Amino acid sequence: MYREQVPITMLTAYDYPTGMAADDSGVDIILVGDSLANVALGLSTTAHLKMPAMMHHCAATRRGVSRALLLGDMPFGTYHTSTQVAVESAIQMVQEGMVDGVKLEGCRPDPIRAIVDAGIPVVAHIGLTPQTAAAQGGLGVRGKTAISAQRIMADAAAVEAAGACMLVLEALPEAIAQSVTQQCKIPTIGIGAGRYCSGQVLVQNDLLGITQGHIPKFVSKSVNVGNISRETIKTYVRQVKAREFPGEEHTYAMDPEQLQRFHEINGTFSRAEEK
Ligand code: KIV
Repeated sequence: MYREQVPITMLTAYDYPTGMAADDSGVDIILVGDSLANVALGLSTTAHLKMPAMMHHCAATRRGVSRALLLGDMPFGTYHTSTQVAVESAIQMVQEGMVDGVKLEGCRPDPIRAIVDAGIPVVAHIGLTPQTAAAQGGLGVRGKTAISAQRIMADAAAVEAAGACMLVLEALPEAIAQSVTQQCKIPTIGIGAGRYCSGQVLVQNDLLGITQGHIPKFVSKSVNVGNISRETIKTYVRQVKAREFPGEEHTYAMDPEQLQRFHEINGTFSRAEEK
């Protein structure tokens, strides 16, 4: 797709149904993003997500994905302390999480090289990197000054040289993402990085309008599944309280003779007989 300049689609998923929905819908790459922390586990930062939760969700997503490439985000702390820890973490993600490759945040050539050497494809993620955003002054667009944009270009070159097979660019001015894409010989996948990347990635909960509160500018807000589910649940609650649900059409019937026999054994009478 990259060579043929066909835009690549990536979407996050976190479990069996969201993985299956993305796979069935023709998404090229499904990412069990560590946005799992925020959108599915209710944590305030991705830095709080640990490996066991990630493994649990990668394995569940895998069971719903049979066609697309499946990537998993390496949780914060699983590739920072040494290359050995990084390789062991990546192997665990492949063996237990059953992902095809891993993504890690930041310009970290050493773990990238070591994990690639171990035979696991690595996607690098630069620009806004939420796991370490606190140390970078918070969430927000990166590369807005000439110097910081130059730094992004250097980071892209470094992770590519280390062996990354793809590059996620998050929250960058469009012109800078375009320059990175022109400079690199690997596909760039943008999120809030404009139109000129080799592909696009979104958080599935944002795309579907399940996420509550602030939705980033770069997400099209064409549906609101969150509102649809709330309305549907409210209707269910109202119908049960009003004894409108379940209706007869939702019930299982029984062979009348068997029912009669049952009442004889139990000394009870069916409602019909009582009447
Ligand atoms: O965790 C995630 O969902 C991501 C995407 C935003 C690229 O890393």
